[in-house]
Amino acid sequence: PKAKLYIDTQRAVSDISPLLFSGFAEHMGRAIYEGIYDPASPHADENGLRKDVLAALRELNFRSMRYPGGNFLSGYRWEDGIGPKDQRPTRRDLAWQSIETNQFGTDEFMHFCQEIGTDPMMAVNMGTGSIQDAANLVEYCNGPVGTKYANMRAENGHEAPYNVKHWCIGNEMDGPWQIGHLEAEDYGKKAREAAKMMRWHDNDIKLVLCGSSNSSMPTFPEWDRVALEICYDYVDYHSMHHYANNHANDTASYLAKSAEFEYFVDTLSGVLRYVKAKNRSKKDVYLQWDEWNVWYKAHGSEHTQGNWEEAPHLIEEVYNLEDALVVAQWMNVFLRKADVIKVACLAQIVNVIAPILTTRDSMLKQSIYYPFMLFSQLASGKSLDVTTRSPLYNTSEFGDMPLLDVSSSYNEETDSNAIFIVNRSQTDSLPVEIHWQDRAPKSINSIYQVAGTDPKAANSFDNPDQVVAKKVDAPSFDESSTTLVLPPLSFTAIDVQ
Ligand code: AHR
Repeated sequence: PKAKLYIDTQRAVSDISPLLFSGFAEHMGRAIYEGIYDPASPHADENGLRKDVLAALRELNFRSMRYPGGNFLSGYRWEDGIGPKDQRPTRRDLAWQSIETNQFGTDEFMHFCQEIGTDPMMAVNMGTGSIQDAANLVEYCNGPVGTKYANMRAENGHEAPYNVKHWCIGNEMDGPWQIGHLEAEDYGKKAREAAKMMRWHDNDIKLVLCGSSNSSMPTFPEWDRVALEICYDYVDYHSMHHYANNHANDTASYLAKSAEFEYFVDTLSGVLRYVKAKNRSKKDVYLQWDEWNVWYKAHGSEHTQGNWEEAPHLIEEVYNLEDALVVAQWMNVFLRKADVIKVACLAQIVNVIAPILTTRDSMLKQSIYYPFMLFSQLASGKSLDVTTRSPLYNTSEFGDMPLLDVSSSYNEETDSNAIFIVNRSQTDSLPVEIHWQDRAPKSINSIYQVAGTDPKAANSFDNPDQVVAKKVDAPSFDESSTTLVLPPLSFTAIDVQ
């Protein structure tokens, strides 16, 4: 058997929003402390930021970074984290049962974002926080000097406003586990009032409403409808969260997870259209997938409760090859659904369910680092509607699925076309014919592949190169097609000029 892809650069789905390549950093476990910020590490710079971690994050080319949570957000008092460090309170973080020293806060986060070349995306507390606290934080970040909170920022050494554009109104407020959880209608009303005050401080900000924590919530998708009906004209994005798992140890089904991701997007996309029509609204609200990743091995209370320690080891998931192939498919879905998904934040970035793990002295890039990097570096311009003819295979969870999972982008300005392909077969190589329908390529600039024979192979500090992106030789091509043989269990990123 073989597969065929038909690429036509005029057959576009939508512009690709650069914010699809965003991240999420929470005050949780060793994500901030001992991950990003660790003055005691030999790798720390003069501000306590880990230089090796910063360099690895820069390569991932994050376009924005969501902060400070997560479940942590819903009990966070942002004023604890500003001003002279020796005067900041140490508190109990009830979400993760940890000790929060507040040595890293809003100003340190802004500096961190500058260091890695990303835009900050702030979240306001809708659990214990008031709409006034939310508005005050917007003033602290974006207000011109002259009034209380903007003056506080200046006193803390930052005269010029940060101009934070993107703001999330709470986190997972549908979840009974959330500090200050609210029913959909109560949340909708609070979020609407917070949105009004936040925008009155700065009319240019973009606002994100909390959607369902995942598609298995008993309140999904009713929560989304109710909150959206109240807030539709006040917000720009509706958030979704999801963590993929292979609890069943059924790799064939696990490797077909794009079906699950697409179901979630399609359902919420229907809700958005319904509410737009019902509210007789003229504007569009888009999806922001602001927590997504594989997370299931480091689950259970031993992984989520910090025993009142500072920077405890929480949910430090170890990622393997099959996880990397699921991450690659997830990003394929972002491109295929680029008309409705405009923002996506990998959860998270260091130590906590992350592409990077640290010890005080060293750093490890996990398997999922590589597909994220390739998409983030190569996908730009428009997402293409690729016609894919692929042999099928059977899965117990999703029925028959194509062996190949594909997406593609075309950037008119640079005249470059990127193609991303997962081969889900665990055993067989698959030849694929790529047909260029409207444009003869000048060259195949590079082909990178993440592949292996063992779906459970993972990188470790002792063996860091088990699952990495490797450059492979480009095949010959003519003006109408090329043929590539894709190894089993592989992700391939092709950069065509
Ligand atoms: O990312 C870890 C946690 O997962 C976040 O704090 C929460 O929002 C989600 O349940």
